[in-house]
Amino acid sequence: MSTDTTASNSGAPTTPAGKAADYLDQRTSVGGAVKEFARKVFPDHWSFMLGEIALFSFVVLLLTGVFLTMFFDPSMALEEYHGAGPETMQGQLMSVAFASTLDLSFEVRGGLLMRQIHHWAALIFMAAIVVHMMRVFFTGAFRKPREINWLVGTVLLILGLAAGFSGYSLPDDVLSGNGLRITDGVIKSIPVIGSYMSYFVFGGEFPGDQIIPRLFTVHILLVPALILALIGVHLFLMVLHKHTQYPGGGRTDKNVVGYPLFPVYIAKMGGNFFIVFGILALMGATMSINNVWNYGPYDPSPVGAGAQPDWYMLFLEGSLRLMPGAGMEWVIFGYTLSLNVLIPAVVIPTLLFLFLFAYPFVEAKVTGDKREHHVLDRPRNVPVRTGLGVGFLTAFIILALAGSNDLIATHFGMSINQITWAFRILFFVGPVLAFLITKRICLGLQRKDRELVLHGHETGRIVRFANGEYIEVHRPLDEQERWLRVNYTAHKPLEIEPATDARGVKRKGYQKDKRWQRLSRFFYEDRVEPVTPAELAAAHSHGEHDEIAAERKSPEVTTGAESVERER
Ligand code: HEM
Repeated sequence: MSTDTTASNSGAPTTPAGKAADYLDQRTSVGGAVKEFARKVFPDHWSFMLGEIALFSFVVLLLTGVFLTMFFDPSMALEEYHGAGPETMQGQLMSVAFASTLDLSFEVRGGLLMRQIHHWAALIFMAAIVVHMMRVFFTGAFRKPREINWLVGTVLLILGLAAGFSGYSLPDDVLSGNGLRITDGVIKSIPVIGSYMSYFVFGGEFPGDQIIPRLFTVHILLVPALILALIGVHLFLMVLHKHTQYPGGGRTDKNVVGYPLFPVYIAKMGGNFFIVFGILALMGATMSINNVWNYGPYDPSPVGAGAQPDWYMLFLEGSLRLMPGAGMEWVIFGYTLSLNVLIPAVVIPTLLFLFLFAYPFVEAKVTGDKREHHVLDRPRNVPVRTGLGVGFLTAFIILALAGSNDLIATHFGMSINQITWAFRILFFVGPVLAFLITKRICLGLQRKDRELVLHGHETGRIVRFANGEYIEVHRPLDEQERWLRVNYTAHKPLEIEPATDARGVKRKGYQKDKRWQRLSRFFYEDRVEPVTPAELAAAHSHGEHDEIAAERKSPEVTTGAESVERER
């Protein structure tokens, strides 16, 4: 903190920004913290922008959302519409919420643009979250010490879904009303408490006149406040742990190699923000979305083919569409148990989210790994995790496609029943196949890495020796590339204590250990060990062709020309 108070001091700032900063520092001592923060080193990689895209689209959502809140009226009272909207809407009986959405679109200056930017920002926000999550998953960024941040992230994903769903329902149009109708059915399918919960949520029999005002509060206050708070925790934890880095020369679990926050990262992030904002504004200005006047106000009777939710809800829609109805509704002691709704809309999503919440802890347990990890994994080096991730995504995509089964049928002139059956089978077979194929590809890539490290890159140069033998010249890897391809741990399955102790007494907990060991075998039975220095030396002593390769002086393993290296 500066304590100079006289303007005559030679070190006193002269620029307006400097003077303002000095003014603030003398009153708050914030200078030290800013200096410390500005020097923080962030590793550089394009995929680290995905979280930023989620963050910036959330900012756009807040800005446009505040605008919309000024004009939207969340009332379910009915009125006859006579406004500036299309002819088809004139004189129709509709809720005030729907009418105010029409007013926002046709009477409020810039209203339609704001609505469209808001909706596109929501779609991009969810897409950025999902892709960001995939990056974190496939690179193992969720490992110790970042497990809690993974949990916070998964809650953010669920809150993102809640924000999207509650916002989508507000205009009270045919599509959103039917979405709420489905939600009512899903709530009612919960055994014992379902019908009470439905009454509680809707304030009486569906649809009642409470749900839109309630969703409005959820959408503009509750969910955004929770998301904001959790983003704060998320970024705080990210700064606390420091960002992970991709493997490469000179990068270890003990250092951070990258660029300082100020000025490099601030400039990059600022640029990224304006790009995200600009693209969303362009999308909102040129690509129409959710033109509710084409669907009309909510009425349970006219829902038609082609009706779909936003993309992030498609997996739920698909799950419901795939579930067979026959024999799935049981009446027990006069109570109806609708398994045809309960399984696809409650059980399956719960399982998907449980998988996400539990994964980091299960993987740590089967790996027996208690170390901190700051260098990311290359997905190929953890074949089962990568396979599980791809299997999970395959299930998600199949469900999302199943949510469009009617569109697929009409566009490709196919039978909707056949499509539905194909998806039913694919839902069980697809993820398993995707897992097996991905795992094999990863193992294959690891073997290729071994091959490259031991024998170098093929050059296409054929040399003939005096004795008539032909060989192809291989170019040895430089230090950087070799580091990348050998520097990983091929975990082995867990070893556990025997079932009985030295005196033949049965050991408590053996069965549990055995189960974990079985899971651990599933993860690490098939593995490809990285090349050891001894193997490398042996390969070089035999591989004359490597020696023939153009004499290249391998560079030192450095951290990169302009980047900064700091201790963690
Ligand atoms: C509102 C949603 C989210 C926002 C705004 C957000 C934002 C960010 C940002 C800006 C970063 C640093 C840059 C980067 O690594 O991409 C980050 C890192 C991280 N995020 Fe998120 N995120 C969100 C959701 C999620 C989700 C759904 C998960 C996973 C379940 C997750 C897990 C993580 C983890 C583990 C890190 C640390 C990564 C590392 O150090 O390599 N985040 N997040």
